[in-house]
Amino acid sequence: MPVTAYPVLIGGEEIHGLATFADLDPSTGRELAEVARGGAAEIDAAVAAARDAFERTWRRAKPSDRARILRHMAELIRRDREQLAELESQDTGKPLKQARSDADVAARYFDFYASAIETLYGDTIPIASDLFVYTLREPYGVTAHIIPWNYPMQIGARTVAPALAAGNCCVLKPAEEAPLTAIQLGRIGLEAGLPPGALNVVPGFGEEAGAALAAHPGIDHLSFTGSVEVGKLVSKAAAEHVLPVTLELGGKSPNVIFADADLDTAMPVVVNSIIQNAGQTCSAGSRLLVEMRAHDRVVSDLVERFQKISLGPGPADPDMGPLISAAQLERVSRYVEVGKTEARALTGGSRPDGDGLKDGYFFAPTVFDDVPRTAVIAHEEIFGPVVAVSSFADLDEATQLANSTDYGLVAAVWTRDVSTAHFMARELRAGQVFVNTYGASGGPEMPFGGVKRSGHGREKGLEGLLEFTQIKTVALKLDVDAS
Ligand code: NAI
Ligand code: MG
Repeated sequence: MPVTAYPVLIGGEEIHGLATFADLDPSTGRELAEVARGGAAEIDAAVAAARDAFERTWRRAKPSDRARILRHMAELIRRDREQLAELESQDTGKPLKQARSDADVAARYFDFYASAIETLYGDTIPIASDLFVYTLREPYGVTAHIIPWNYPMQIGARTVAPALAAGNCCVLKPAEEAPLTAIQLGRIGLEAGLPPGALNVVPGFGEEAGAALAAHPGIDHLSFTGSVEVGKLVSKAAAEHVLPVTLELGGKSPNVIFADADLDTAMPVVVNSIIQNAGQTCSAGSRLLVEMRAHDRVVSDLVERFQKISLGPGPADPDMGPLISAAQLERVSRYVEVGKTEARALTGGSRPDGDGLKDGYFFAPTVFDDVPRTAVIAHEEIFGPVVAVSSFADLDEATQLANSTDYGLVAAVWTRDVSTAHFMARELRAGQVFVNTYGASGGPEMPFGGVKRSGHGREKGLEGLLEFTQIKTVALKLDVDAS
C-alpha cells in the first residue's frame, strides 16, 4: 500500500514537493506516511503568513465571530472523530479507545475557549472621580507552539484553541514522531473558516523547524511541551527576543495511598495512570507511595493487574500499545536496567515476546518495589510503563517523599480522611492535586501546569486563555470638576 504524503500548511495553502521524512507506525516499525520536512524557510513563511492574518483580520475579528469558527472546528473534529482516532492510534501506537477520547477532548478545547472568549471582559479601576481607568486584554500577535508526539491531537488543540480564541495567529510545529493529526487540525481550521494564515502547521525535525521557530524574531509568544533539555534550549532562544514562554516539561507524579483508602476504587485508576499511552504521558502516575501497613495488599493487587494487561498494535485496541520509537524503547530499557540494580522488579522488566509484538516498540508493564528515595528510577522521568513503588510510615514521610523530586506536575492522594486529604493537597508541590481520583480525563476546564522543573505557566481553563493575552491599562482624564 502506498503511503500518504502530508504537506506543510502555510497561509491556507498545502505545500507539497518539499523534502520529506518517513513517519513510522510504532506498532510495526513500518512507514506510515511521508511528511514534508519543513525547515527554516517554511518557518519564515509561516511566521509571515501568521503576521499577515493577524494584522489583516484576526486581531479585529469580533470575539463572537472567532467563537463561531472555533465551535465549527469542534463540530468538524467530532464529525471526523473515527478517522482522527484511527490516524492518532496508528501514528502514536496508542489504543484506539484512548485516541477516540483524545479526539473528544480536542473538540472540547475548541468549544470551551469559544465560550471563554465570549465572556472575557476587562476591569474598570476606581482611582479618582476624574480618572477613568480600564483594562483591555489583547492578543500577543504571532504565537509559536512546539508540541510532542504523545498527544498531538489533544496537546495541539490545548495550545492553539486558547491562542486563536484570544486573537493570536499560530505556527504549530508537531513532533517528527507523530505529526499527522496536527496537520489534520490545520486542515479542519481552514474548513471551519479560519482566515488563511491564522493556523499554520509546519512539521519537521526539532533541530530544524523547531529550533528555527523558537529563535524566530517574528514570534511574540512561545509555548513548548516536551523534554526539560529542549525546554531550556527554546527558553534561551526566546530570551534573545525577550519573549514570554509557557513550558510544560513532564514530571514524576506520585499516587500517595494511605492505608484507609478505598483500594477497590484506587487500584484501577492507579494502574491506568501509568499504563495510559504506555506511560508516555507528562502527568503519568509513575511513582506509587504506599503507607507501610497497606504495602503488601497494594503491591500484590498491582502486580496481578499489571500481568493481565494486554499488549498489541494501537488500532487493535489492546490495553496498552507500543512505545513511540526505537529511541524511546532504548531509553526505557536503559532505565529499567538501572532500576534492576537499585530495586526489585516484580513483573515486566523486558520486551515482551508475544506474537505480533516483535517488530513494534513494545515494553512489558513493569513494577519496581522497595525503590529507595535516592534511586535514579525514583526521580527521573522514564516515560514508559514503569512504576516505582516506595513506602512511608506517616504523613510527614509521605509529604517528604512525594515532594522529593525536581518535578511537580500532578499528584494524587488516596484516603478517606478529610484532614489528611486537605493537608496533603496543601503541602504537595504540584500544579494539580487529585483526591481519590487521578487525571479527571483531561478536563479542559481545569488549569494545568507545573512547578519546579515541570515548567511554568498554565494551560487549560481560563488561566490557559489569559496566558495568550496581555493586559493594556488605559487611563482617561475626565474634563470635569470633580471637587
Ligand atoms: P523533545 O523535547 O525532543 O520533543 C518535543 C518537541 O520539541 C518536538 O516537537 C521536537 O521536534 C521539538 N524539538 C526537539 N529539539 C528541538 C530544538 N532543538 N528546538 C526546538 N524544538 C525542538 O522530546 P523527545 O526527545 O521526543 O523525548 C525525550 C523525553 O522528553 C521523553 O522521554 C520524556 O521524558 C520527555 N517528554 C515529555 C513530554 C511531555 O509531555 N511533557 C512529551 C515528550 C517528551
Ligand atoms: Mg528529541
